[in-house]
Amino acid sequence: MKYVIAPSVLSADFARLGEEVKTVADAGAQYIHLDIMDGVYVPPITFGPAVVKAIRPYTDKVFDAHLMMEEPGRMIEDFADAGADIITVHAEGCRHLDRVLQQISACGKKCGVALNPATPLTALVQVMDQVDMILLMTVNPGYGGQKFIPYTLEKVRTLRAMLNDAGLSTDIEVDGGISLENAETVARAGANILVAGSAVYGGDAAANTRAFVDILSRI
Ligand code: DX5
Ligand code: ZN
Repeated sequence: MKYVIAPSVLSADFARLGEEVKTVADAGAQYIHLDIMDGVYVPPITFGPAVVKAIRPYTDKVFDAHLMMEEPGRMIEDFADAGADIITVHAEGCRHLDRVLQQISACGKKCGVALNPATPLTALVQVMDQVDMILLMTVNPGYGGQKFIPYTLEKVRTLRAMLNDAGLSTDIEVDGGISLENAETVARAGANILVAGSAVYGGDAAANTRAFVDILSRI
């Protein structure tokens, strides 16, 4: 299994976003996690395709766009054109999830589906074999710096078992409350892509990225 640290720029300095991205990329982050919030699906508004496009030249690492949006199908092409490599949509935000996933694949991008903590894994059964990544929220979406919700750990284990039973090696990304303290635990439970916002940008972003890379390299 390939383990990846995906720093979330949500906790970065937005006035210096390009350099903040470069800092973690140079320190070994393989993915850059971009939290797109529309003020409807979640209360805050972050940024859209224009900002993704503006920071694209700062690194060639994977741009992992997490769309916390109501009906993201309206903007898939915009994020694809802006330079997103993986586009993840929330099952709860799409009336026609299957269609939106097809739309992402048709743009030549990797597609992901995200579930909130309280959304059951059964929401994935029909689409599991057509997604490249499944994002399990380990906090309620909308804000950085929240506490990891303990019951989601068992959800990661159950999902990895479901995927194994289906003969799939799909990536499982965990997002929310991930720290240097719990990184190994969530990875051993079956997650292989770890998003970290405040645990990276809350201090020395380069040193924190290297510490995550080190933990994941020993699993
Ligand atoms: C939350 C976002 C997360 C957020 C994580 O809605 O999806 O990606 O940045 O932040 P931390 O790591 O601080 O919990
Ligand atoms: Zn996210």
